[in-house]
Parts: sequence; structure tokens; C-alpha cells
Amino acid sequence: MEPVGDFVGSVQELTPSLAVSDNETTWFADARFGMFIHWGLYAAGARHEWVQTNEQIPAEEYAARYQHRFDPDLYDPQAWAAAAADAGMGYLVITAKHHEGFCLWNSALTEFTAVHTPAGRDLLRPLLDAFRGRGLRTGIYYSLLDWHHPDYSIDTVHPLRHHPDRTRLNESRDMDAYRAFLHGQVRELLTDYGEIDVFWPDFSVPIDAPGVARNHTVEQARAIARYLGDDPETLEFKWGADWDAAGLLAMVKDLRPSILVNDRLGISDGYDFVTPEQELPDQLPARDGRPLPWEICQTFSGSWGYHRDESSWKSVEDLVGLLATTVSGGGNLLLNVGPTARGEFDSRALDRLAGIGTWMRRHARSIRGCSRAPDDVRAAAEALDGAVATYSASRRRGYLHLLRWPAGPLVLTGLARRVRYVQLLNDASEILAAPATERAAIGAGPDDLVLTLPPRRPDVAVPVLELFLD
Ligand code: GLC
Repeated sequence: MEPVGDFVGSVQELTPSLAVSDNETTWFADARFGMFIHWGLYAAGARHEWVQTNEQIPAEEYAARYQHRFDPDLYDPQAWAAAAADAGMGYLVITAKHHEGFCLWNSALTEFTAVHTPAGRDLLRPLLDAFRGRGLRTGIYYSLLDWHHPDYSIDTVHPLRHHPDRTRLNESRDMDAYRAFLHGQVRELLTDYGEIDVFWPDFSVPIDAPGVARNHTVEQARAIARYLGDDPETLEFKWGADWDAAGLLAMVKDLRPSILVNDRLGISDGYDFVTPEQELPDQLPARDGRPLPWEICQTFSGSWGYHRDESSWKSVEDLVGLLATTVSGGGNLLLNVGPTARGEFDSRALDRLAGIGTWMRRHARSIRGCSRAPDDVRAAAEALDGAVATYSASRRRGYLHLLRWPAGPLVLTGLARRVRYVQLLNDASEILAAPATERAAIGAGPDDLVLTLPPRRPDVAVPVLELFLD
């Protein structure tokens, strides 16, 4: 493990050729919308997936408390897959193992698995099958951190960080053995569970590579340390070298050549997409001057694991706005659900997913297969108050998502000669250009397209205008 401090040193180098070709990222960019699922023993704690380290619970106590009580008797993978498909999502990323170390699959390398709970079976396989059965792609989140494994050394975010014997305990912890375990587990997942489309390791600090979204920078690590009561000046985090990330990535690509791998391994190259978290990137991720695919992950409230008492849930309108805004920047949205310990999506999640699905049924073509709009369309959207534009190159249509419904006529600056026809997407009803008197009254220029919107806002989460472009 390398102390972070004022980080010096170079990230592990890797040949860029390991990243997949543009062709293999096409499905990912087309889908635009995926479901993240955080499900593990922390669902029983129901107060954040970091509960073990937040409350400094030693591994044995944590296992004693939750492992032998984890009984998801209402688990219905088909229902989860249906909820995702009906919401218009194109893929799944599921936490096979989170930082607590608990495995949803039947790993031969540990007994800390779903098989050794009252569930008594592999919970991962039926989930992957259910999603595939609905035509969705599948991805595996795998935590590089492991607060259960006895050889995983105690660092700044470890539950035993305040143990009086931290240094002595670490002497007997053998990270070589942990690395072998980690590589072995990833091999199991990518060998025995069919075609996995995405590998989502999490996480390394600092991720300091070109084009990488800066979720896990030293600065953020200090903030985490402060929050956990550890010394922010003597940070101990793990990154690429601790995982033998280069070797791990080579193995992953060898087992599944067309798999897409995220940017959280702590290496400077070889990853396929960038993963900002909860916050849109302020500049477009790129490598060697070429744009990189990106995917932002977001929660409904704040916690990734099931959190019973959180009340800051985003509305359907917020979430649809988030989706449209993400696609307008050329990215994907991975929206997280934290199922309960009984194996269900709770009513708040189902309500949001159903609401998004109602919207997607009529508006999917403004999302799927769409990307950043051409500059003139983008500029027209930016000139409005609360609108974002997406674009379908194959249909040559722009989609203007109206996050706020304008009171008067809508002015699309500079688009007069670009747009042939406009309709509301929800009901394909024509939108007419405003009469000359009205144009004159608001002082519109000859290049501006002025539209007369219906007096009543359509009854959808976010109204969309479909612009048939020249
Ligand atoms: C962070 C957190 C983790 C969560 C992840 C999702 O890395 O450690 O709890 O799974 O973000 O992106």
C-alpha cells in the first residue's frame, strides 16, 4: 500500500491497445440509460452501504450480525429486470461484492457469500439471466476494497482504522494473498457467469489519469478521512499497484475481449469509459484528443445501499431532467437502486422507475441512440431558460427538452433556416411558427425561429420538442 500524502509517483503504464474499439462501445452509447444495483448485507443495516466502516464494526461482528440473518425471501429477479426494462434501461451493473466483502455469487474462494446465508443459494446468476432474458446487457461491479478479507491491510477507510494495534495488525496482513484472492474472484465472475458486458471495479485513490473524472482525488480522500475521523494528512489509500491493476486488466480483457472496463482501477490507460459520480463533468472526458465514453452514476437520494430513513428523494421530473441533461452532454446515466434485505425494490424506487418508464415510453427516441446536438442547436438550447438538447444523427432530429415550460413564445436563436418541422414528441402534435406580428413584438431577428407553444403544458414529466433538421 502506498501512502497518499502529497501524492508523488507515476501511475502504472499500460498499452492503450487494451481499450476496446469504438465499435464495441456502440451498444453502450446507444443504450444511454442503465440500472445500478447496490445489494449486500448492508441492506439489513439500512443506513448506508458504508455502515461497517462508518460505525467501525469489525468483520467478525458484522458477519455475525447480518450474514446469518440475511434472508431475502421476496427476491424476484424477474421483477427487478421488468422494472428496469419498463423504465427504458438498456443494461445492468450489479454489485457482486461491495466494500464489506460479501459476495452475491457462489465464490469458491470464501464462505462470505449468499450461499452461506439463509438464502442458501447463488443470488447473482438468476439476476443476470433475468436481465439478459429481457434483452438487457449485464455488468459486474466488483469492490477492490474488502473490509472482510483478513489479508486486506488496514487503511484510512478501513473499519479498524482506529484500532490501537493497527500497525501490528497490518504486519500479519499479506496484500499478496489478497491480490491473488481478488484476481481469482474476478476470474470466477468472468468465467462462470456468461457474457458480461461491463466490468466496474471500485475504487482507487488517487485516480490521476488523463481524461478521468476526478471522483477519488487526494482532495476528496482527505474529505473522506476527515469524515471518518482519520488524519487527513497521513492518508493511506490503495490504488493501481495495490491491485496489480495492469495484470488484472490484462486478465479481464483476455477472458472477455469486448468487455468495457471503467476508469477506477488506478491506472492511466486501458480503460474504456469514465465514471463521474453524482456530479456532471465540467469538461468532456478525452484521451489523446479523442473523446471518451462516459457514464455518470446517480442515486435516488444519497446512499447507494438501501437507506430506510433518507428523505431527500429526487422526483420523477428531476430524474428525467438528469437523464436528458446527461445525454445532452454525450454521456450515459447509471441510476442506482438499493433493494431491501427482503429482496425488493421499495415503493419509492418503484414509483420513480414507473414514472420514468411512463415518460420513456413516449420519449425514448430523444434518449436512446442520441448524443450531443450540433453546435447551433446546442447554442439555441443554452440561450433558453432551462432547456437541454439531444440529437439523433441517424434521424437528423434534434430534441429540445423543456425543463421549464416557457410562458410566452419560444425563441430558438439562429435556427430559422435549420428547422423544417416541429412537433411535441409526446403526442406528435404540430407546433407552428409564431405569426409575424408576434415575432415583431418580441423583436426576433430574421435567423430566429419563434414557436407558439400550446397554452397548457403537456402532462408529461419533461415536455420535448422534436425538431426535424435540414
Ligand atoms: C463510491 C462509494 C461506493 C459506491 C460508489 C458508486 O465509490 O465508495 O459506496 O458504490 O461510489 O460509484
